[in-house]
Amino acid sequence: MTAIHPISLATWNGTLPAAEQGVATDALEAGHVLFMPELRFELSEAERAYLDPALVGKSKNVSYDPRSGKLGGLNVATMKLDDLRALMDRFATSTRALLATLLPTYGDGLHQAKTSLRPVEIAGRTQSWRKDDTRLHVDSFPSQPSSGNRILRVFSNVNPDGRARVWKVGEPFEAVARKYWDKLRAPLPGERGLLAAIRVTKAVRSRYDHYMLKLHDAMKLDPDYQARFATATHPFPAGSTWVCFTDQVSHAAISGAHQLEQTFWVDVRAMRNPNAAPLRVLESLAGRKLA
Ligand code: SIN
Ligand code: FE
Repeated sequence: MTAIHPISLATWNGTLPAAEQGVATDALEAGHVLFMPELRFELSEAERAYLDPALVGKSKNVSYDPRSGKLGGLNVATMKLDDLRALMDRFATSTRALLATLLPTYGDGLHQAKTSLRPVEIAGRTQSWRKDDTRLHVDSFPSQPSSGNRILRVFSNVNPDGRARVWKVGEPFEAVARKYWDKLRAPLPGERGLLAAIRVTKAVRSRYDHYMLKLHDAMKLDPDYQARFATATHPFPAGSTWVCFTDQVSHAAISGAHQLEQTFWVDVRAMRNPNAAPLRVLESLAGRKLA
């Protein structure tokens, strides 16, 4: 079972003894969720205005690129964008500091990607099955191939009414991969090149990304699998923060609103145990290199 690994850390610029950093890194790579119950991301009174779901359009999230400072997903033009950008940037900076504390061995192998603000209630939200994150899945981005690199995400529940964000978690990645591997169809000849040529993907989709997307879909489309883990819920309280490899942890978010999220890429070679990477697990099932 996926475990929740608690870490006592109450500040974003804290310190941890080296032994605890090693334990945290190993737990994360083994597919567990690092959970900081006391690590709150503070919003000022004025910043709480940005928690209004009316802020976002169809995308459901505000996105922020820490490198360019660009905001996306907004529905309204009248908000004070500089203040919103400052809030997103503060979260981006805070999560960088947190990972330097938790996972220092990743060093240059850790790359910051986008930040998101998720103001909309998850429960009862209508979505296509593929986008429905209330169904257990592993993350894989359809337009942005990872080529085997890891998707590491930091989540902070900033709900102003004290409501938890409730997740379900499933079994370890290898068990999921073994369960579905024989049912995942291989890429068609020319398929991955065509998707890049017509700009469905930003780069040629690796075989690894192909199989990860198929696995994501197979999990979401399997009602028996979804039903099996119905009781394995975990509430992340308001004012808490958690970190996991979402390409590895079978997860679903079933209720809650108001969350900040930061995505990082991690090079497989920077891992302490690269054999735990989904890339290596799928390659051993395929008997060939996939990226
Ligand atoms: C997900 O990554 O599936 C959603 C996580 C969340 O928004 O809590
Ligand atoms: Fe997900």
